[in-house]
This record gives sequence, structure tokens and C-alpha cells, in this order.
Amino acid sequence: MSMADRNERRRFPVLMRILHWLMAAMVLSMLFIGVAMVTSMPDYHRLVSIHRPLGILILILVVIRFINRKLSRLPPFPPTMSSQERRIAHASEILLDTLMFVLPLIGWGMLSAGSYPIVMVGSLHLPPILPANQMLYAFLRKTHTILAYLLFATFLAHFSAVLFHTLVVRDHLLDRMSLWDLSSRQSKS
Ligand code: HEM
Ligand code: HEM
Repeated sequence: MSMADRNERRRFPVLMRILHWLMAAMVLSMLFIGVAMVTSMPDYHRLVSIHRPLGILILILVVIRFINRKLSRLPPFPPTMSSQERRIAHASEILLDTLMFVLPLIGWGMLSAGSYPIVMVGSLHLPPILPANQMLYAFLRKTHTILAYLLFATFLAHFSAVLFHTLVVRDHLLDRMSLWDLSSRQSKS
């Protein structure tokens, strides 16, 4: 087996890698847009008008990602990870996926409960998915904030774990998800 083949087997399939980085960029933008939105009055309307469609796009992509994941062969974890670490990594990845699915639904649901129009672009609106109810709106509005912060905290743990493996353990964990081959440069030196 050639070196290139062996590298390919340790990596996620290319569509999963593309979706990972596309969604990582979108989710992180959404977190910052969300926080900027509620803290800066002058830009509020411009920011919410990006926040709504971008969030719904994440909802669509996470479903595609989930189906793609079920149909793909995933690379096994590297031998540098203990069985406990694998369990934690797996659980936090499931949590990230779940939050990327639930958060946009709560955003959509809370605007429905608050009887707000759910504007995507121009005159394209989404239908409400919940009955008008101010108590429900207040509850979902709070839940949206709490889960967004939980998503950010889980992302920080995920990012730290990847950095630790890549820079300290040096097991090339990042290569598994990178779009191009990072290790070929190192193996030449
Ligand atoms: C710059 C930041 C990020 C880096 C460096 C990074 C890196 C990685 C790496 C190396 C893996 C493969 C780990 C493994 O072998 O299991 C991975 C998997 C994963 N990442 Fe990230 N990631 C980042 C941001 C994010 C964000 C923002 C999210 C979502 C909110 C995310 C969600 C996931 C999920 C769900 C997996 C599991 C893939 C699967 O098995 O389906 N990542 N990430
Ligand atoms: C992955 C997807 C999403 C993330 C990460 C996210 C994140 C956030 C964050 C961090 C805030 C600020 C919360 C605060 O500090 O109180 C926020 C507020 C908000 N989000 Fe999202 N959100 C997402 C999806 C959506 C979707 C799909 C919608 C609607 C269709 C939506 C509608 C809103 C609204 C209306 C607000 C608050 C506006 C206000 O009350 O002034 N979000 N979001």
C-alpha cells in the first residue's frame, strides 16, 4: 500500500471534510452574529436578516451531513486515543451535531411562537411551526441563548482537544479532517 493510500484511509471522506469546514465557518459566524446582534442596536436589523437564513442553511446542511455520514466509511480513531478519550470525543461530536440541528429549530420555533414573520430573503418567508404563545416565546428565547453558549463551550473543548493532539501528542489528528495533505510536507523533512 502506498503512503498516499494509507493517508487516505486515515482521513474522513472528502465530502465530510468539505461539509465540516463549511459548517464550522458558518456556525462560528452565527455565534458572533448572534452576540453582536443583541449588543449593537444600530446594526440589529441587518444582522438578524443574515442570522435567520444562515441558521436555516445550517439546518439543511446538518441533515445532508447526517445522511452523508451514515453512508460513509469513517476512519478509525488513531491509536494514540484511549478508549475513554474515544468515548468523550464521540459524545462531544454527537453533542455538536445535535446542537447544530436543534438551535436553528428553536430559532424558527421561537419566532413562530412570538408571531414574528420568519423572513428568509426578500418576500420568501417560512411558515410558523408553533402556535402563537408569549410564554412559549419567552421560554424558547432563553433556551436559544443557553444552547448557543453550550455550543460555543463544546466547540472550545473540541478545538482544544484537536490542538492538543496535533501540537502536543503530534499524532496528526488534524490531517483526518484537513482539506489537503498537511503531513506530506513534514514527512519530506
Ligand atoms: C477551527 C476549528 C475546528 C477544528 C480545528 C476542527 C477539527 C476537527 C478534527 C481534526 C476532527 C476529526 C476528529 C476525529 O478524528 O474524530 C473534527 C471532527 C468534527 N468536528 Fe471539528 N473542528 C473545528 C470546528 C468545528 C465546529 C465549529 C464544529 C461544529 C459546531 C465541529 C464539529 C465537528 C464534528 C461534529 C466532528 C465529528 C465528525 C464526525 O465524526 O462526523 N468542528 N473536527
Ligand atoms: C446554528 C444556528 C444558530 C446559532 C449558533 C444561533 C446563535 C444565536 C445567538 C448566540 C444569539 C444571541 C443570544 C443572546 O445573547 O441572547 C441568537 C439570537 C437570536 N437568534 Fe439565533 N442562532 C442560530 C439559529 C437561528 C435561527 C435559524 C433563527 C431564526 C430563524 C434565529 C433567530 C434568532 C433571533 C430572532 C435572536 C434574538 C433576537 C432578539 O431577541 O433580539 N437563530 N442566536
